[in-house]
Order: sequence, then structure tokens, then C-alpha cells
Amino acid sequence: MSYRIPFNRPCLAGNEYKYIAAAIANGHASGDGPFTRRCHEFLEKELGVPRVLLTTSCTHALEMAALLLDCGPEDEVIVPSFTFVSTANAFALRGARLVYADIRSDTLNLDESLLESLITPRTKAIVVVHYAGVPCEMDPILAVAARHGVRVVEDNAHALFSRYKGRYTGTMGCLATQSFHETKNFTCGEGGALVINDAEFVERALVIREKGTNRSRFFRGEVDKYTWVDLGSSYLPSDLLAAFLLAQFEAREMVQEKRRLVWNRYHESLDDWAESNDVKLPVIPADCEQAYHMFYMLLPSAEHRESLISHLKSESILSVFHYTPLHLSEAGKKFAAHPSRCPVTEDISERLLRLPFYNDLSENDQDRVTTALMKFRFRALSRRAS
Ligand SMILES: Cc1ncc(COP(=O)(O)O)c(C=O)c1O
Repeated sequence: MSYRIPFNRPCLAGNEYKYIAAAIANGHASGDGPFTRRCHEFLEKELGVPRVLLTTSCTHALEMAALLLDCGPEDEVIVPSFTFVSTANAFALRGARLVYADIRSDTLNLDESLLESLITPRTKAIVVVHYAGVPCEMDPILAVAARHGVRVVEDNAHALFSRYKGRYTGTMGCLATQSFHETKNFTCGEGGALVINDAEFVERALVIREKGTNRSRFFRGEVDKYTWVDLGSSYLPSDLLAAFLLAQFEAREMVQEKRRLVWNRYHESLDDWAESNDVKLPVIPADCEQAYHMFYMLLPSAEHRESLISHLKSESILSVFHYTPLHLSEAGKKFAAHPSRCPVTEDISERLLRLPFYNDLSENDQDRVTTALMKFRFRALSRRAS
């Protein structure tokens, strides 16, 4: 079914076609060509980090992180239950057991106050997700991790260029992962990056990303042929994708400004309506700058959400729910260290609704969304018990 106002629409930022044509003309369509290098330099300079490597997806960057940390069957990895499967699956692939953390009811990020109670002598890593582009409470998370000698990985799929107390997300854990999937602020259709903040991981990351070979040493003239030296896989995107992505990166200010305007416009038009209908709008802590990745609302009940989705559908507007709790999923239970209780995740995941959000969402179409919302009849449905 096609909608008059879709949930997402990939948007061109400027030089995409020109750069793709140049990548073809360069005669280097495979990975690590000139456009990939320019994407690496852009992110390294903007974020001020030692090394960035483009990958084929955020999922693959997370798999690289699990390999780099040598996660195995003896290890436990703490992940929020309210996240995309890849945050957990990447570590389960290495045999690690998952420990699910519940989330805060305000930012929907991992609840840092629970961490201490989830850490055991087996804990290898804590993976945080900056949900909806709003940073986690990183100081206490980093402090608990340091106290226990546990690594922190940031799944920064939503939050490129958001800041926590002035620091970019993705620069605080030893490793961080980015997504350039079509739903993200900056995209090349499918793509990702591994951000390496701890230089000790650089050489091995290069090997893992190149099918477990020392090919990058060969290209640097350090060995006369390359060979298999470690585990790895094919995690390099084509330079054609990097060409598309670079065009998006170069329009960073424009992309973020457009998204900021869409987000603020939703917030301003829905504030009073939300207040009078027991709908909660996103919370941005005072010391955080968000990435303007999505606009979600928490409805009073699951029933309200389902009927609001149908109501918007009847107006040809696509609104969508988000993650279902990992700790209750079939694979989530199978790869868990032990059963978990995550009541906030269970409650939120039933009531959260995401509105259409993309760079080129026109004011006219946005008004159609908010007008349709205001026509929704709340009173007929019962509220949640709490
Ligand atoms: C928090 C989070 N991590 C990882 C991913 C996976 O990203 P990708 O599609 O680039 O593999 C997603 C997907 O949307 C996500 O929401």
C-alpha cells in the first residue's frame, strides 16, 4: 500500500549523482576507494576520533565490535531490551550471553541506575543505544564500566552528531557504530561505520573488515603478499555507496537544520494537544543536544496506539510502532544469560508511535499529519491502569 505521506522518504542532499558518476569514472567501484577515504576523513575530523571505518551496515559494525572485544561463550554482554535486534544479535553470534537492561521512562535509554546490579564477573561489555538520537546518561555508565573493568560500546545508529555535555555521542565508548540505512539522517541506502576511539583496535579492525586478511598491510607495502591472519568477514561497502554518502555528509548543516525544523514544528504544534490527551512527547535532558532523528509519542494505552495507527492510515498517513522487547522475543530468551524483568520496556513498546519524519517533509504535509492527529477521538477508549 502506498501512502500520501509515507513514514520515511530517502532524500537527496546535493551531489549524490555527480559523485557516483565520478566513482564509476575513477575505475574503483569496490571498497576503500577515494570516496571511502573521504568519508573516513570527514567523520574522523568532525568527531575528532582516531579512526573511522565505513562498513556495509551498523549491524556489521556491531559484529566487528563483538569480534574486536573477543566476546565468547564465557562472556555476558549487557544490552537494553528496547533496541533493534542487531545490538544483541552481533554478540550472540560470538556465543556471548545477553543480559537485558530496562530503560528509563523519560528518554527511553538504558537505565543507568540498574547497571551495577546487572554486572557479574562475566560481564565483558555494556552496549548503550542513544535512542531517537537522544544521548544516554554517559557519565554514570562510563563510571560503572570503569569500576568493573567492562568495555562500553555505543550503538550510535540514531544519534550521529548528538552531544552529551558537549561531547559527541559515538566518541565515549571504546568503539561505536553508525548506521546509514535509508531511515537514518545520513544515508547511502544500506551502510554503516565503526568508530574506533581506542587506537589499540585499529590494526585488528582493518584485518576483520578485510575477510580476516592483512590486505591493508599489503597495500601499505609492509608485506609482499597478503594472507589469512584472523577471523573476519566482508564488511567493506562499495565506493559507489561511499560516493552517495559523502554527498550527504557534505550537506550536514542543511540536513540537520531541516530535521531540526521538522522536529520543532511537531513539538510546537502537538504540545497542548498532547498535554490535554495524556500523550507524552519526547524528553531531551538539558545537558544533551539531540540529533533530530525521529519524532515519537507515547499514547495512553496500546489500544489508543492501534486505533490511532488505523485512523492515520485512513488519512493515507503511515505512522509506525518501534521495537518489541528483546527479553521477551524467541531468540532473545534463547541467548539470554538468565530471564529478565524489564517492565518499562514492555509498557513503552506497546504505546510508542513514530510519526512521518524525513528531511523533505513539507510544512503542508506535516500540517496534514497534525490535523489528522487532532481529529482522533480519544475519549472512546480506556486508559492504561497505572
Ligand atoms: C539501534 C539500532 N542499532 C542498529 C541498527 C541496525 O542498523 P543497520 O540497518 O545499518 O544494520 C538499527 C536499525 O535501525 C537500530 O535502530
